[in-house]
Amino acid sequence: MTAIPFQDGEDFALAMDMRDPIAHFRKRFCFPKTKDGEECIYLCGHSLGLQPKSARSYIDQELLEWANLGVEGHFHAKNPWMPYHRLLTRQTAELVGAEAAEVVVMNSLTVNLHLMMTSFYRPAKDRHKILVERGAFPSDQYAVKSQIHFHGFNPSSSLLELAPRDGESCLRGEDIESLIDREGDSIALILLGGVNYVTGQAFDMAGITKAGQRKGCVVGFDLAHAAGNIPLCLHDWGADFAVWCSYKYLNGGPGCVAGCFVHERHARAWKLPRFAGWWGHDERTRFQMGPDFRPMLGAEGWQLSNPPILALAPLRASMEIFSEAGLERLRAKSVSLTSYLEFLLERLASPKFCIITPREHGRRGAQLSIQVSSGGRKLCEQLANNGVIGDWREPDTFRVAPAPLYNSFQDVYRFVLRFTSALQ
Ligand SMILES: Cc1ncc(COP(=O)(O)O)c(C=O)c1O
Repeated sequence: MTAIPFQDGEDFALAMDMRDPIAHFRKRFCFPKTKDGEECIYLCGHSLGLQPKSARSYIDQELLEWANLGVEGHFHAKNPWMPYHRLLTRQTAELVGAEAAEVVVMNSLTVNLHLMMTSFYRPAKDRHKILVERGAFPSDQYAVKSQIHFHGFNPSSSLLELAPRDGESCLRGEDIESLIDREGDSIALILLGGVNYVTGQAFDMAGITKAGQRKGCVVGFDLAHAAGNIPLCLHDWGADFAVWCSYKYLNGGPGCVAGCFVHERHARAWKLPRFAGWWGHDERTRFQMGPDFRPMLGAEGWQLSNPPILALAPLRASMEIFSEAGLERLRAKSVSLTSYLEFLLERLASPKFCIITPREHGRRGAQLSIQVSSGGRKLCEQLANNGVIGDWREPDTFRVAPAPLYNSFQDVYRFVLRFTSALQ
């Protein structure tokens, strides 16, 4: 969408919606309703994306195939279950900027993170540290610490945390790079979120990868808040691995199957240690049921189990919509929608809150994190009672993310109206 100066007033929001070339996708999602039957203002795509209306028919199709074909569905369903996960490969690769052989949808995020660390965290006496953001998502912290223990090291000396400067909420690019420069020789793995889940800050993944690899570190990303939110070029950036979930911006449904990227240069790294399962075995000989594991080429070689078809089906529904809408149009709308939200909030000029998400478009995605000086939890509850769904992170942050696939400028306008009255 071409940038036009924002104005106050609902008419302006409606005019923006009229000009929005992808506004019609909103109709293809189910919106939760208030007690009075009104559509909620749903700004929680950073937590759980909305259900595509087509998800039901994708699931029904597989239920029907199962009912009619039983085990034969593996080979004779309209979309045979054996290669079913590959129906998602092309779109997933486009989404994260990868080659098809570099991505696979499997397991859940934390499981994939452990699988990746099993292969790519190879601590040695002089190089054993993992670099993470301070206050990384708890599951990442637990996973990382447990891997450090698993290898006989101790987080007190092997976990390195990046913290913002005193009085600041976000990390500065130069601080990340200088820490990598200083400590790089002892860092085995750099593991950062593509977008920080609390602040909404997007990191310079290309720069971090370059800086880390220059020092001989392995570089991986948790893209839970980045996939489907910001442009990604994992292959060109050269990241070693990445993992993400698909229930946030990707609208795959609660606990939906996650994604995993392994850079092409590791596709034939047969000697890398890995936790193996039969679905990662070379498919040409998988059903000979031999005793020795021979991994498939690329990311698929890290699969463990045969995939959950009923969980992949709604993800297909959502990824079809992503493809139709187009990543460029989505990003253009997202930048505009979030800037509009920022514009309206800043006009309130209230000392009761501040936005901690970076201002620059390149340093954030859809989410704005609003730090509330006091009574924030109550404010959040009041908004929820008033049909606004965002979410609260202790101790003081209210997170909202207008998702370009289904949110409108009017949603944003109405949210700010309700937020203003809740503040008062
Ligand atoms: C940044 C981040 N990492 C990891 C996770 C954990 O994901 P899962 O429960 O799918 O393993 C989440 C979940 O919200 C997350 O936001």
